[in-house]
Order: sequence, then C-alpha cells, then structure tokens
Amino acid sequence: MWINLFGYWYKGIRYVIKILIFTARKIVLKPKDLEGVVKSGHILLKLSKPTWPIIKQLTRSKKANNQVEIYDLKFENPLTFAAYESNIDLLSFFLELGIGGGCYKTMMIQPRAGNPRPRLQEVMIDNQPSLINALGLPGKGAKETIKQILSSSLLTYQRPLGFSIGGDNSDDYRQTFMTYENHIKDMKYPFYYELNISCPNTDSGQCLADNHNELSGLLKELRTHTNRVISVKISPDQANHEITALADMVCQYDRMIINAGNTTYRSCVELGLNNNTISREGGGLSGPSLLPRTLELMRLLKEFKCPIIATGGVHSEASVRACLAEGASLVGIATALVMNPFIIPKILKTYVHRC
Ligand SMILES: Cc1cc2nc3c(=O)[nH]c(=O)nc-3n(C[C@H](O)[C@H](O)[C@H](O)COP(=O)(O)O)c2cc1C
Repeated sequence: MWINLFGYWYKGIRYVIKILIFTARKIVLKPKDLEGVVKSGHILLKLSKPTWPIIKQLTRSKKANNQVEIYDLKFENPLTFAAYESNIDLLSFFLELGIGGGCYKTMMIQPRAGNPRPRLQEVMIDNQPSLINALGLPGKGAKETIKQILSSSLLTYQRPLGFSIGGDNSDDYRQTFMTYENHIKDMKYPFYYELNISCPNTDSGQCLADNHNELSGLLKELRTHTNRVISVKISPDQANHEITALADMVCQYDRMIINAGNTTYRSCVELGLNNNTISREGGGLSGPSLLPRTLELMRLLKEFKCPIIATGGVHSEASVRACLAEGASLVGIATALVMNPFIIPKILKTYVHRC
C-alpha cells in the first residue's frame, strides 16, 4: 500500500510542478521545457532527505536472494539505473529504494553545456508516458565528476557503480577513462566502466559504433590499464548485422558486458510534434515503446558469451521478467525512474514474491 501511496504522491507533486512551470513559461511566451520540472524535483528531493529512512522502512521488501554476479560485480538484484542522471541525491535515493546498482551519466573529458534548450520533453507514445531528449551530454567533465563521486555518500551503499564515458573520437574516450582510472585504480570499490558509443544527440556520439577497428584498438588499450568490467552501450538503431558484428568483436575481450541499448532517434515531425519542441528538431525517444526492440536485441545477442544488460522500455515487473527470460543478466531503467522512482520497490516486491 505504501509503495502505491508514495508513487501517487510523487506523480501528483510532479504533475503540479509541471503545470506551474509550463503555465509560467506560456505567460512569457516561452515553449514547454521539462528540464525545469526535473531540476525542481531535485531540489524537493534534497529537502525531503530527513524523511528517507521512513520511506525506506515503509517500502522495503523482504530480503531475498536475487543477487546477480557478473564477473566480480555483485548486484543485489537485476535492477539498475541506466546512465542518464548525475544528481547524487537522486541516485542515492534509487539506492535507498533498493536498486541493485547502476551507471552514472555519461561524461566527456571537458565540461559541456550540451545542446540549446528545450531539449527534454514528455510525449505520449501509444498512450504511455515517454521522453524525447536531445540533451547532448551536458556535464561537469570527468575531473570534477570523479572528485564529486568519490567524496559523496554514493559509495556507502557498496553497490556496483558504472562510469559512462563519451567522446567525439577515441582519444576523448581514452582521456576520460584515464581521468577516472587515475583516481580509482587503487580502490576496492565495485566500479565498472561503460563506453557510450550510441548517443544520438551529439554530432559524433556514435563515431566508434561505425568504426570497429578504432573501438577494438581502444578496448585493447583500456585493457592494458584496467581489469575492471567494461560495458559497451549500443544503439537500437543499428542494423542487426552491425550489432552482431560489434558484439562479436567486443566479446573477444575479457570481462566485457554489452548494454542494449540507448534511446532511438526520432524527429519531432515523426512524433507529430512541432519542430521547435526540441531545439535540434528531434532526439532520442525513450520509454515503454522501446521494449519490443530491446527484447529483439536480447534474442539476437543470446548466442554471445558476454553478459547482457537490457535497457530500453523497462517499466514494470512483467518487462523485467521478459528481458531476463530472453537472456539478459541485468536490466537498465531510465524513463520509468524519471516518471516514478517508486517503481523500484514496486517491481522488487512482486519480483521477490514470485522468486
Ligand atoms: C534524460 C535522459 C538522459 C540520458 N542520458 C544518457 C547518457 O548520458 N548516457 C547514456 O548512455 N544514455 C543516456 N540516456 C539513455 C538511457 O540511459 C537509456 O538507455 C534510454 O533512455 C532507454 O531506456 P528507458 O526506456 O528506460 O529510458 C538518457 C536518457 C534520458 C531519458
């Protein structure tokens, strides 16, 4: 009961903030922009921190053995937050609610402003709330990020934490990786890396997906520096034969994961939206409509020896089960967490009961 109540409360507050912000923007003749709503949510979450222990107590599910071991990484359960968020309070909240682990948002080597706003909007696809984003990987840059993470409460949870790495070329990826690695090489914490080679919202976010030799060279080099698990995050927009060729190459390296996948590119026009809804006139669509393609990718990647993370459209206990049944070791969730973080205990409760 508490999980549903908290869920309704969260969605209700979010709805009210959205209406207030959108109305204010309309009055000053500015277009809708979901980013303001997300940022207000971060502030409210921080203010509500003293209540977290009570929320945790009221929403926790019975301890059960749902642990997933991938190489030396031990995930308490198969739910992970996909790389989409850098707000430490929010990530901590996901961990409080019981998520098994997850990946910090993609960082580039230098601080980046990302694309002009508006670059994040809510859209209904087949009557299901979904998101379109063209953020363009804004962030503080690798150096500031790693310092912030290492001094944060995130590490108290001792759950696997990924660092997602982006770049405009392999040298960018290498530099970001080295910045992280120089800080964590002597640490025992279960960190892992994720190469985001599938971002549809920067001009060269998919440069390595199109150049297997360069990606292979990069992996070879990273392996000389680290024994930590490396995940490669692929795009659902790539053709099946390209994905299998990529998986074939990636799985030749030790301790690799394939994360399938990222958002799928859609223009505003394709979605029946005005072009100015998103400043780049299109972006990465995410949410439940991605699930059929994610399941298709699980079937395609089953034959490879690397563990697979199913990311894209996971929003319920049924969708988690479907992904695991098709061979995924973990699931990655983004949009459903934006809509309501209480899906974590909701899924875990049903999942634990059925196990
Ligand atoms: C607002 C937003 C920001 C995102 N930022 C990143 C990112 O920085 N790096 C990345 O690899 N994927 C990013 N993604 C993609 C998600 O990690 C995920 O792969 C995608 O949204 C599909 O999962 P979903 O249907 O559960 O949202 C982002 C998605 C959203 C909605």
